[in-house]
Amino acid sequence: MAQNEATKSRIGVTGLAVMGANLARNMARNGFTVAVHNRTTAKTREFIEEYGPEGAFTAAESVQDFVDALESPRTIVVMVKAGKPVDAVIEELTPLLDQGDIIIDAGNSHFPDTVRRTAECEANGIRFMGVGVSGGEEGALLGPSIMPGGDTEAYATVEEIFTTISAKVDDTPCCVHVGPGGAGHYVKMVHNGIEYADIQLIAEAYDLLTNVAGLDAPAVGKIFEEWNTGDLDSFLIEITGKVLAKTDAKTGRPLVDVIVDKAGQKGTGTWTAIDALGLGIPLTGITEAVFARGLSSLKEERTAAAAVLAGPTPSKEVDESLVEDIRQALYASKVVAYAQGFAQMRAASVENGWDLKLGEMATIWRGGCIIRARFLNRIREAYDQHPDLDNLLMVPYFTQAVADAQDAWRRVIVKATEQGVPIPAFSSSLSYYDGYRRERGPANLIQGLRDFFGAHTYQRTDEEGAFHTRWSQDGTEVKS
Ligand code: 6PG
Repeated sequence: MAQNEATKSRIGVTGLAVMGANLARNMARNGFTVAVHNRTTAKTREFIEEYGPEGAFTAAESVQDFVDALESPRTIVVMVKAGKPVDAVIEELTPLLDQGDIIIDAGNSHFPDTVRRTAECEANGIRFMGVGVSGGEEGALLGPSIMPGGDTEAYATVEEIFTTISAKVDDTPCCVHVGPGGAGHYVKMVHNGIEYADIQLIAEAYDLLTNVAGLDAPAVGKIFEEWNTGDLDSFLIEITGKVLAKTDAKTGRPLVDVIVDKAGQKGTGTWTAIDALGLGIPLTGITEAVFARGLSSLKEERTAAAAVLAGPTPSKEVDESLVEDIRQALYASKVVAYAQGFAQMRAASVENGWDLKLGEMATIWRGGCIIRARFLNRIREAYDQHPDLDNLLMVPYFTQAVADAQDAWRRVIVKATEQGVPIPAFSSSLSYYDGYRRERGPANLIQGLRDFFGAHTYQRTDEEGAFHTRWSQDGTEVKS
């Protein structure tokens, strides 16, 4: 299909499942000319039939037509399942593209794959971007948070499109160039890890309100609605109120009461936890959230264990003071989870030479994405004032907020523990807080033990250097 440059499209989207289709629609609705393509041609035809009137689309039935429909430098957004499908699309496109054309992977790809693909594409003269897009199907259509990674020239080509279609907060686009190579997909990965922690903390609060405070789903939903008017104001708290308020049409019961308690996971939270372990960053909230999903998936084992393993039965006593304590524990634990996630991004930025601007990451997460929350403004302020901040807990606003909440936090953990309700994210977050504020902990004994069995040496508090005690000889200490 020959087209002159003037009739060619500004950008192309291949992969028209809901996320891809909604991104293409968002671009067209905002006045950009968009070429669309899907491996299954019927899907492309259905897309045009349903959404064609929304904007200037060019439907391409073959990859060649798709490439030919694009103005130079060609800019192609790939919206296919993460993993091998992305590599397959790149392999199919590469021979059809010219030097300087741009391939953008906007799926939930694992950042090491993005680093590899960037090098592979650049070897063929093609620029590659790994772009995190958060906000689900609705966000893709109405305004996502966009986390573009890749070279700055490639970003300059798409900046107007991405900042136009992104969510806006205070007229500021929730989109900024994150950094080179895999930086964009890395930040999206950490976003998802924080999402896991957020959701786990909400689930633990719901569990406590249900099984310790004895409230039913609609009552708990109303409490989340109320909490959403204060410091916990966020998308996830808002939709928790809605999910808990939903009545199941089939049974007339709260829908949440007829949903099986087995959590799925596509893996982004696991990636985050594994990367933090490699960086040596304590990421307790997010990692406990991944573990909790794993434990929830052992439904059959848990059903058998429930009949065998001894433990207290929760009291289910309505207790107004406990409800407020849970709110405070939820907020304090959330602060810890975000502090850990941002500490991980800071460490990864140094490790990879990305020069991430953490205040900007908080800024683009204020809208459009799943973890959008009022308190991201506070995080943005913190990093704008202290760009190289070690830990969010050290910022006066958060220092005070957690100090004010800690008594309630401790009461909740005692109560949950006494009543046999598991709260891995609440409790690991408090242990992290107590560990972080501890000037001297028990690692001195760990060093002694390691030196005893492995001669791994230790440091002394009163002298520089590394020391070893000759435990199995004369017991003298030598300086190594
Ligand atoms: C987003 C979401 C999106 C996806 C989750 C689900 O930012 O829009 O995070 O990426 O819905 O990743 O992931 P799990 O299935 O692992 O919970």
